[in-house]
Amino acid sequence: MAEGLFRAKTADFAEYCSVTSCGLCAMAGDPVSENAVRALARRGIDITQHRARALTPYHIEEADKIICLSRSHYDALLPVAGSEKLLLLGNGIPDPYGGNETVYDHCADAIDRELDRLLASDVFFSVEVMTADDVPEVVRIERENFSEPWSEHAFREQIDKSYGVNFTVKFLDKPIGYLCTDLICGEIDIGKIAVDEKFRRRGAADRLMQKLRLYAEENGVESLTLEVRVSNEPAQALYRKYGFETVGERKNFYREPTENAYIMTKLKNGDTDENTGN
Ligand code: COA
Repeated sequence: MAEGLFRAKTADFAEYCSVTSCGLCAMAGDPVSENAVRALARRGIDITQHRARALTPYHIEEADKIICLSRSHYDALLPVAGSEKLLLLGNGIPDPYGGNETVYDHCADAIDRELDRLLASDVFFSVEVMTADDVPEVVRIERENFSEPWSEHAFREQIDKSYGVNFTVKFLDKPIGYLCTDLICGEIDIGKIAVDEKFRRRGAADRLMQKLRLYAEENGVESLTLEVRVSNEPAQALYRKYGFETVGERKNFYREPTENAYIMTKLKNGDTDENTGN
């Protein structure tokens, strides 16, 4: 059930995330119990074709993350898999084995809830300083998002220049979004922020903005400024969330299509949005 649920939740970015499940005492080839099939069918997920697999050293070696559903499995695997790789789902999910449909349904609910929490947590996402290795993926995302994209050369220059402050947000070490800024005389100018469409509304931009906010605090930045298309409501909402205010408008600032830009600014200590934790 956990494999089916996790695969459904990550279907939008399946090429970034291959999901499999194994048992510690599984009889390889056993079909799924009927109650598990029904519990997932109610959620629109078909697991009729699934067959049990036994965990092998190969699975442990190959996995980026191993999510245990019970504390006893976690404890048994800890010495071989290590705490970097191994996770316990919630506080462990009670085994529904032998239970009726309602028991399986509650179990599926619990797994569903805990997987959502896990996917919203920092387990799979990280924010790092952008490096040359990130540039090819960053350029791909850039081209998908902007009508006049920066070139690969422009990104390489951006990460090389002494006043560039650039971050990449990653899902399991693969870049899925980025933020490029210049820090000049205590002022940050945000030149670029974008997130791969497949990973939108999962807090990737939040993570980038939180990293930038921390950087600004640590480096005594006085103000942050950016331009944004007047029609780009998602981006404006993001900036307002982090305390930016519209302070002006530039006529025909953008091309393809031609459009005005709002100038948005945030002054030091000007962040009042409760969503950002201040
Ligand atoms: N509608 C309204 N608000 C939105 C939004 C949308 N579709 N998408 C993001 N936001 C705002 C919300 O305030 C959200 O906070 P909330 O979840 O508490 O409501 C906040 O942004 C953070 O959301 P998050 O999930 O981290 O955003 P994201 O990872 O989907 O990335 C953009 C947001 C703007 C970077 C992304 O939509 C993007 O890449 N757009 C194309 C490129 C672009 O326009 N860049 C900006 C150029 S100025």
